[in-house]
Amino acid sequence: MVRLLTPARRPRLALILASGLVGSLLSAAPALAGDAAHGKSVFASQCSMCHSPAKGGAAIMGPSLFGIVGRPVASVSGFAYSPSMKAYGGAWSEDRLRGYLPAPAKAVPGTKMMFAGVKNPAQLDDLIAYLATLK
Ligand code: HEC
Repeated sequence: MVRLLTPARRPRLALILASGLVGSLLSAAPALAGDAAHGKSVFASQCSMCHSPAKGGAAIMGPSLFGIVGRPVASVSGFAYSPSMKAYGGAWSEDRLRGYLPAPAKAVPGTKMMFAGVKNPAQLDDLIAYLATLK
């Protein structure tokens, strides 16, 4: 007799892809949420190849992130932002960074920040705590 089989639960492919190698390596060293010292190492391994944290730091692939929390979006003069980033408007609050950093291309479609995103919530908290110290 023919019976409908309960569909097997599909692997959470997106989640598996999202966690990625870098994420798994970093999450091997758990830290308290909002730990700026750990956030600095997240920045070093995932952001510093493209962003300087220094005041007036030269653009690498992306602009310096000095003062990013509270800074108007797309406001580093001389940096060639994408039209999408320019149109995003407003300023970078911690909440907006929390919305942007896990999936930049989803939050700002057309951004030229070629980065998959920080998926791990604890890493994200630590990273944002670190970004808030760049002032
Ligand atoms: C591969 C290079 C690259 C990596 C890695 C990268 N970014 Fe970016 N980022 C860019 C580029 C390029 C832009 C400009 C985007 C645009 O104009 O659409 C940008 C823009 C930004 C902005 C907006 C800046 C502004 O002035 O409005 C923020 C915030 C940001 N990145 C944070 C981060 C953080 C935090 C990380 C690490 C988790 C990171 N980025 C990793 C290349 C990168």
